[in-house]
Amino acid sequence: MYLLILIIVFSVVVLLSVLMAPYIRKYVAGGVCLSQARLSGKIVLITGGNTGIGKETARNLAARGARVILACRSVEKGEAAAAEIRSKVSGAQVEVRELDLADTCSIRAFAQQFLKEVSHLHILISNAGVMMCPYTKTADGFEMHLGVNHLGHFLLTYLLIGLLKRSAPSRIVVVSSLAHNFGWIRFHDLHSQGSYNSGLAYCQSKLANVLFVRELARRLEGSGVTVNSVHPGTVRSELVRHSTVMSLLFTLFSFLLKTPEEGAQTSVYCAVAEELHSVSGKHFSDCTPAFVAPQGRSVKTARQLWNVSCELLGIEWD
Ligand SMILES: NC(=O)c1ccc[n+]([C@@H]2O[C@H](COP(=O)([O-])OP(=O)(O)OC[C@H]3O[C@@H](n4cnc5c(N)ncnc54)[C@H](OP(=O)(O)O)[C@@H]3O)[C@@H](O)[C@H]2O)c1
Repeated sequence: MYLLILIIVFSVVVLLSVLMAPYIRKYVAGGVCLSQARLSGKIVLITGGNTGIGKETARNLAARGARVILACRSVEKGEAAAAEIRSKVSGAQVEVRELDLADTCSIRAFAQQFLKEVSHLHILISNAGVMMCPYTKTADGFEMHLGVNHLGHFLLTYLLIGLLKRSAPSRIVVVSSLAHNFGWIRFHDLHSQGSYNSGLAYCQSKLANVLFVRELARRLEGSGVTVNSVHPGTVRSELVRHSTVMSLLFTLFSFLLKTPEEGAQTSVYCAVAEELHSVSGKHFSDCTPAFVAPQGRSVKTARQLWNVSCELLGIEWD
C-alpha cells in the first residue's frame, strides 16, 4: 500500500515537473540584457574569457562589434575559445593574451605589454575566478581565492586605470556573487593561515569584490569611468571543479541552473546598457539592481580593505 502511494506521489511529481519545465526554465533563465548597443571601435578586456560566463560575455560583446581580448592563464584554452567565438560570430575580433592572476609578475607583464599594444580600453570585465579550491597560495603567498578573485583583479585594475580614464566614457564590471552575503573580511587572518574553509574563503573574496567596487566608484567620481559588481546567478560552468559535492549537486540540478549564456546577461548589461552610463558603485543581478549585504556596504571596511590590498601588493593608489 505504502509503495503504491509512493509510486503515485513520485509519478505526480515527475509529471508536474515535465509540465512545468518550460515555466521553470524561463524563471531560472533570469533577466536578459535588452540593449541593442553596438560596440564598433570599442576595446574590451575580459579575464578568464576562455570558458563559462566569461566566454559567453566575450561572444556577446564580440557580436556587438567590439575588439575583445581574452586574458587567460592558458593561451591554448583561450585560443580554442576564440576560435569557437569566431566560428559562431562572423567577423568577430577576438584575441588572446596570457594572464595568470595568481602571479603578480604575470599581471605586471601582461599590463606592460597590453599598454604597448592598445591605445584605449573601454570595458574591463573582471570575470575570472576560483571557487572552493584546496588550501593553496598564489606565487606571492596570498590565499588563492583572495589572491585571484580580489588581489589579482585589484592590481590589474590599478595598472590599467590610467588607460581606462583616458578612454572615458569607460566601464569596469566586476563579477562577484550572491556568496558575498555569507562572507566577512577576516583582517586578522586574511590568508586563512589560522583556519581554512574553502567555502568561506570564496565568500570572503566575493565580498572583497563588492567592497572594492564601492570604494573604487567613490574614487572614480567625475572621471567618466564607472564600476559595478554583478551576481551572474547560479550558472552551469566549470567553477565547481574543485568540489565533488558541488559538482554532483550541479549535475543533479542542472535543469535549475542558468546556462553560461544566461549567466552572462548581467555582465553584458552592466557593460553596455545605455541607462547605466553614469551609474557606478552598484551591484546587479538579473539585469536589475540587487541587494548588497550590510558588510558589503561598510565604508570603513571598504577603506580598510583598500589600504591592506595596497600594502600586500606594494602599491600606492590614492
Ligand atoms: N557559476 C556560478 O554559478 C557563479 C555564481 C556566482 C558568481 N560566479 C562568478 O563568475 C565568474 C566566472 O565563473 P564561471 O562560473 O564562468 O567559472 P569557470 O567556468 O570556472 O570560469 C572561470 C574562469 O576563470 C579563469 N581563472 C581561474 N584562475 C585564474 C587565474 N589564476 N588567472 C587567470 N584566469 C583564471 C579560468 O581559467 P581556466 O579555465 O584556465 O581555469 C576560467 O576561464 C567567477 O568570478 C565566479 O566567482 C559564478
